[in-house]
Amino acid sequence: MSKTLLEVNNLKKYFKTKNGLLHAVDDVSFTIEEGKTLGVVGESGCGKSTLGRVTLRLLEHTDGEVKFEGKDVLAMSKSEMRQMRKQMQIIFQDPYESINPRMSIGELIAEPLIVNNICKKSEINARVAELMDTVGLAERLINSYPHELDGGRRQRIGIARALSVNPKFIVCDEPVSALDVSIQAQILNLMQDLQRDRGFTYMFISHNLSVVKHISDDIMVMYLGKVVEKAPKAELFRNPLHPYTQALLEAIPVPKLSSRGRKREILQGEIKSPINPKNECRFANRCKYATEQCRCGTPELREVSPGHFVSCYNV
Ligand SMILES: Nc1ncnc2c1ncn2[C@@H]1O[C@H](COP(=O)(O)OP(=O)(O)O)[C@@H](O)[C@H]1O
Ligand SMILES: [Mg+2]
Repeated sequence: MSKTLLEVNNLKKYFKTKNGLLHAVDDVSFTIEEGKTLGVVGESGCGKSTLGRVTLRLLEHTDGEVKFEGKDVLAMSKSEMRQMRKQMQIIFQDPYESINPRMSIGELIAEPLIVNNICKKSEINARVAELMDTVGLAERLINSYPHELDGGRRQRIGIARALSVNPKFIVCDEPVSALDVSIQAQILNLMQDLQRDRGFTYMFISHNLSVVKHISDDIMVMYLGKVVEKAPKAELFRNPLHPYTQALLEAIPVPKLSSRGRKREILQGEIKSPINPKNECRFANRCKYATEQCRCGTPELREVSPGHFVSCYNV
């Protein structure tokens, strides 16, 4: 029996800017079942990181609801939130920006254990060694500094720090985007092994659909703060319905032979500003199928087949 771990309803995050209200996340809803991965994709600036941060309450929300095991996260008191933080962690794109470069690997991994009172002082060294082993960092690196390591090993520190508090849910915000392709696969495999062994639930954010393909159970495609399509992974790849999803899929490089004769259509036009958006489909200016209707209203996200949602007037 699957159990819903996270339920997000009509979540909004607007930023006040000098030019108006920036709709970074605009009425986003989804659920993630325990032990599963929701892939979140879309071009840079479409609101993925903001969605992740508001879901974890690292940023205050404008409107909406986040429920973790049925409990309303956005209404929790400070002390409740302190407990909640251990359940919900984040892994960043560049761990180097989120860690103190003057701390050694051992200190960096010990820090969350100490701050959160995870174990007795006498147990910290053993716990650090165990975490390093779990994420594939050699013991001899314990006194090294982050700048002495390559990007893949630095990301392993970020993962160890997230794991140290025994979370259930982890937002992975472009965790492999800064890494060489060969190292990306190693980190993705590590994250999948950890999920299989420990039952983690992931929100896996990437601007690259091919990166989320392997790890995701469901995929949610965002465009300018809105969800344009959401479906189980296999269904999304087999039957992409939104023109934006289709464009993202066509942008994935395919091996030479199979691409022969295939028309590649890369996205045209500029991404609009998310400030004071008009009541129209936000993709209309780049969409080759756009009609008058698309410029006169915002399409709702509709379920067109079981579990497959799309917001497009032409589907
Ligand atoms: N603190 C902030 N203040 C104002 N605007 C912000 C802030 N953080 C993000 N934004 C804007 O919100 C939109 C979504 O950004 P972000 O969530 O970082 O997108 P993504 O992660 O998909 O690249 C962008 O237009 C970005 O400029
Ligand atoms: Mg981002």
